[in-house]
Amino acid sequence: MAGDDGGLSTFDERLLQGVFARVWRHLGEMDDSSKPVTNSPGPEQLRAKLNLAIDREGVDIETMLADIDGYLEEAVKTSHPNFMQPLWGGTSVPAFAGEIITALTNTSMYTFEMAPVASLIEDEIIDTMSTLAGFEAGEGTFTTGGSNGNLLGLLCARDRKLPDSRREGLSGKQLVAFVSEEAHYSVEMAANVLGVGLNNLIMIECDPGGRLLPDMLAEAIAAEKRAGKQPFCVIATSGTTVRGAFDPLHEIADICHDEHLWLHVDASWGGAALLSPKTRSLLKGIERADSIAWDPHKMMGIQIICSVFLVRDKGTLRRVCRHGESGHYLLHESSTEIDLGRMSLQCARRVDAVKLWLAWRALGHEGFARRIERYLELSEILEARVREHPQLEMASEREFANVCMRFIGFGLSEAVADSVTDRIRDEILLRGRFMVTKARLDGRPIIRPVITNPLVDEAVLESLLKEIVEVGNDLST
Ligand SMILES: Cc1ncc(COP(=O)(O)O)c(C=O)c1O
Repeated sequence: MAGDDGGLSTFDERLLQGVFARVWRHLGEMDDSSKPVTNSPGPEQLRAKLNLAIDREGVDIETMLADIDGYLEEAVKTSHPNFMQPLWGGTSVPAFAGEIITALTNTSMYTFEMAPVASLIEDEIIDTMSTLAGFEAGEGTFTTGGSNGNLLGLLCARDRKLPDSRREGLSGKQLVAFVSEEAHYSVEMAANVLGVGLNNLIMIECDPGGRLLPDMLAEAIAAEKRAGKQPFCVIATSGTTVRGAFDPLHEIADICHDEHLWLHVDASWGGAALLSPKTRSLLKGIERADSIAWDPHKMMGIQIICSVFLVRDKGTLRRVCRHGESGHYLLHESSTEIDLGRMSLQCARRVDAVKLWLAWRALGHEGFARRIERYLELSEILEARVREHPQLEMASEREFANVCMRFIGFGLSEAVADSVTDRIRDEILLRGRFMVTKARLDGRPIIRPVITNPLVDEAVLESLLKEIVEVGNDLST
């Protein structure tokens, strides 16, 4: 809204001043653990409290700032040290600065001429991450998330198996892909979207730690071939969603090599372990993958969305993302090499590389390594505290920052303990002091805090266990 002198209007100026004052306040309160993480109101309660309607005339500045206050007040405090629910959390201020400057300069990643510096930064980041993964001449792109990265992985695999499928579709061919039974649900979504079909996504049994069993994989591939189907891809997971398990990549890569199958690694969660020499062995063998999905918006703490898809052989993405010449108005022949829009399934695409680049510049490789090591050190401490606690037990071995536990109380039957465990996290959510996940493992309920927030420390973990046990005891009486 231009003012009379052509600059910002008074409304715009007051709005931005008001917003930046709130930014300082919000960031300043980030580590205040006396404040609730969530007010956890239901939708009806929230709707009654807020005025969300778009009126015929625009609102005044006071109303708009009150709207923003209403939003901030009810927002889940995802930077709060007691926020340990999803596989992300915390605020990277350099990445936030990146969000501000990319929103300020609003552009799209499709062409170099539209996003000159951002294109070079994206190249630099893709090279850096490819090198960390052990891809010597790889390429990659930023995507809308690990889900989309998994879709792209399957698409590349389909292209290798059936090079004509980009034009001809599946033409009645029954492709089958293989994935661990503990893989993320986005793989099913990808099988659906690509026309592979859910029934052609074969779930492979895992060991008790949640890692895909290579022998079972080999057997399943043989069985599908006997049934006349065409295996084309194995999706391994490095860092499963619930347990944080890492599939054995070397053994899986051996099978893929012998069977000529594409190996896609979903490292959306566990990819960050590549950042430290002390943790990267969790992904040993990743350099043998054909493609990788890796979410910096998870353990690297970059604001959502920030997700990378890497592929080992240059040229793959340009081939699978080529959809004829009808985009001549955007993607010109003269800039074929430099326009990143040719390697993406998106047209308009957010600038997501800049915030990651700023965060990485600020921390350096060593800073990121120390951060990941600290998360794993804290996870180990939490695991030890659970193991020594008489009223808690670990629900699974721990490999990463996922600490899966159950409340067992004193002398409760398994059925009662399970029912209490199932209700603990909902009660915790209502109290609003902590946020953790509830899930199921081996058919039984678990509570799963995740350590991936720089503000979490030993004291926070102690108070979380105290809360879990207190609520568990209340629910068992
Ligand atoms: C192992 C794994 N893969 C993929 C995804 C999907 O990632 P996104 O939410 O970025 O699409 C998740 C999300 O938690 C995940 O845990």
